[in-house]
Amino acid sequence: MNENAELLAELETLCRERQAVILVHHYQPPEIQDLADFLGDSLGLSRQAAATDAEVIVFCGVHFMAETAKLLSPDKTVLMPEPRAGCPMADMVTPERLREFQAQYPDAPVVAYVNTTAAVKAESDICCTSANAPAVVRSLPEDQVIFVPDQYLADWVAKQVPVKEIVRYPGFCPTHIAIKPEEIIQLKQEHPRAAVVAHPECPPDLLALADAVRSTSGMVKFAGETEADEIIVVTEVGMLHQLKEKYPAKTFYGIGTAVCRNMKMTTLPKLVACLREMTGEITVPEEMAVRARRAVQRMVEIG
Ligand code: 13P
Ligand code: SF4
Repeated sequence: MNENAELLAELETLCRERQAVILVHHYQPPEIQDLADFLGDSLGLSRQAAATDAEVIVFCGVHFMAETAKLLSPDKTVLMPEPRAGCPMADMVTPERLREFQAQYPDAPVVAYVNTTAAVKAESDICCTSANAPAVVRSLPEDQVIFVPDQYLADWVAKQVPVKEIVRYPGFCPTHIAIKPEEIIQLKQEHPRAAVVAHPECPPDLLALADAVRSTSGMVKFAGETEADEIIVVTEVGMLHQLKEKYPAKTFYGIGTAVCRNMKMTTLPKLVACLREMTGEITVPEEMAVRARRAVQRMVEIG
């Protein structure tokens, strides 16, 4: 047996013995996506974490995603193969910075993108993901809403929900803002019949070039629904793996330079080791968890 085959066999045994479920985000390395019990976007993964009856959740993604799983499944053990895999955008807002920002708009509720730490969620009224952000903002009775931390997701939500005034916190995703409009324009020139789907973390000049704006799971759905058989995918390049697997008859073009380094920190040896040694456990202090859970649950209930 080669080394990988041995590790895969060990993983199967460990999952059975520990009653573990493997949750994986679409930006993870392809070989990790292939091991998923559930592969999805932030919203789907949160729902799965809340619904699972497994004893152990192994989360292959970044830290805020595993923390959210822990909030929704407080009695389960949540492990990360690489707990140092963070999200630079989530780290752009701290509870202190949020409180300072909020002091300028004391009557506005805080909508926290799920890409935030549990400490920030605990200071927020409700969470959202890229899949449900407009619906979450619409659900609030107030006319003015604070949105943290992604200013570009906030821009896109403001366009979808023009009746609300969205106060934007100045955060951003380094991976999505590094994509250049010229890269999309060139792909469009090379493949004039292709549809363009982009993630709402992209700045407006990129979204202006897109036919559809979707979360990562929304992109999978879009690829199945569109009549186009060529699709330009404007997001982290890991997204292409699932699209190609699911729709082998279609052709996908990605942005090769759009790589989230944190998402690529998961490896098969780390995945097996964390389950073998039960390391990389994600915990949230109870007092913080109670408040953060409220914001996440309020979002999950919106449907
Ligand atoms: P999705 O919820 O669309 O999967 O996005 C998560 C993310 O971190 C995008 O950068
Ligand atoms: Fe965070 Fe951007 Fe990576 Fe998503 S792609 S995890 S928002 S840094």
